[in-house]
Amino acid sequence: MVRMRELVLAGALAFGIAGAAGAAEAPKPPAQSWSFEGIFGTFDRAALQRGYQVYKEVCAGCHALNQIRYRDLGGGTGAAHEPLVGLGFSEAEVKAIAAEYTVMDGPNDDGEMFERPARPADRLRKPFPNEKAARAANNGAYPLDLSLIVDARQDGANYVYALLTGYVDPPPSVKLGEGMHYNAWFAGHQIAMAAPLSDDRVAYADGTNATVSQMAKDVTTFLAWASEPNLEARKALGVKVILFLIILTGLLYAAKRKVWSSLH
Ligand code: HEC
Repeated sequence: MVRMRELVLAGALAFGIAGAAGAAEAPKPPAQSWSFEGIFGTFDRAALQRGYQVYKEVCAGCHALNQIRYRDLGGGTGAAHEPLVGLGFSEAEVKAIAAEYTVMDGPNDDGEMFERPARPADRLRKPFPNEKAARAANNGAYPLDLSLIVDARQDGANYVYALLTGYVDPPPSVKLGEGMHYNAWFAGHQIAMAAPLSDDRVAYADGTNATVSQMAKDVTTFLAWASEPNLEARKALGVKVILFLIILTGLLYAAKRKVWSSLH
């Protein structure tokens, strides 16, 4: 029994210390305004498409997005009659996007693997064949798969945005490890990823001015979508359920009055 109490105490203590250290090391990122917040929140299609462009031209050099298939980039445009998923690229555009890549397939009848152009049903092409290759190319650090990053990190969208815009000069007291970079919002502040964005890093297809904060905002919106492509359908359903409950309440109230009126 005593042991149990000691264990619980030790656990609570360790948790408290870790919590305090974590709070000191990873500051709370400032809140941005996101179109997908709130019960009526939806994704801004133009931001999603720009965000995909940033992912494709910058982040995809190191980070995979294994939960997403090319066909997921198509889908609804946000019009009322369409299911609200996807980035709004047309079927032809999705085919063209997929065809820019080759993927490994096989084995064929001779037992060999072969490369072929990607099809809409394929997952987005990974930058590295495996984790060892990814680490070898990144100074030993692992550029994790970004499919779920916005869900996986606390306050995910604000955190990813803050991280991408948070590269600053280290304070004089900090000695950076070899190949490390100082980031105001990364836990411990030393991150193996060099600042991936700089002004005009991409030339936006829609002509938007590609500042660091614009690209960070767009790619974060895209990654929030990747974490939960069904967000809009889920919210639309929630709103319908609530409307239904309100109407039902009204009907029940009217029925109750009707029934009681004959008793009075
Ligand atoms: C040259 C390779 C490279 C590119 C390009 C790159 N990253 Fe990274 N990224 C890394 C590495 C390596 C890490 C692991 C850093 C560490 O653990 O210190 C990382 C980590 C991250 C993390 C995780 C931070 C955490 O909390 O663990 C996020 C989020 C991220 N990158 C987003 C992006 C986005 C978005 C882009 C595109 C705008 C991008 N990265 C471009 C190499 C890259």
